[in-house]
Amino acid sequence: MTLKTDLKINGDTHTLEADARTSLLDALRHHLDLTGTKKGCDHGQCGACTVIVNGRRINACLTLACMHDGDEITTIEGLGTPDDLSAMQAAFVKHDGFQCGYCTAGQICSATAMLDEMKDGWPSNVSDALTGDMPLSEEEIAERMSGNLCRCSAYPGIVKAIRDAATGEAQ
Ligand code: FES
Ligand code: FES
Repeated sequence: MTLKTDLKINGDTHTLEADARTSLLDALRHHLDLTGTKKGCDHGQCGACTVIVNGRRINACLTLACMHDGDEITTIEGLGTPDDLSAMQAAFVKHDGFQCGYCTAGQICSATAMLDEMKDGWPSNVSDALTGDMPLSEEEIAERMSGNLCRCSAYPGIVKAIRDAATGEAQ
């Protein structure tokens, strides 16, 4: 069955006509030519497909495009451009937060939304308290980014980049 869905992606509305079983990830990559978002496992295990939907990061491989009629979706293409990188993108470049780059779009989308979650006071599994300010410790970053795997193990650079983007300085 073909369904018509309006997706607001990076500020533009795209009308998708696709099989109802089309994942959001396949809609982005194969129907809308937004190939910055990557397919790693297609099973919700690697985080390569992370995008931001209505302000929350999700795995685009685990959700159907037709479930997002009218939703605001931000992909890596919407965070910045080569000439005008977002603070997180620039920090990843500065701190070598990638090697092959395959996981990088998902890492950056996830990290961007993660900092907003912290600003909004969402605790994680390793937070000492359920409310109040949370330190941007290595433990918090590791826990909150645990859904994003990097087969090149660029984790030290990723942590530095996230700290830099959040505070203006890597530690
Ligand atoms: S491709 Fe979606 S989590 Fe791996
Ligand atoms: S940079 Fe290669 S998978 Fe992360």
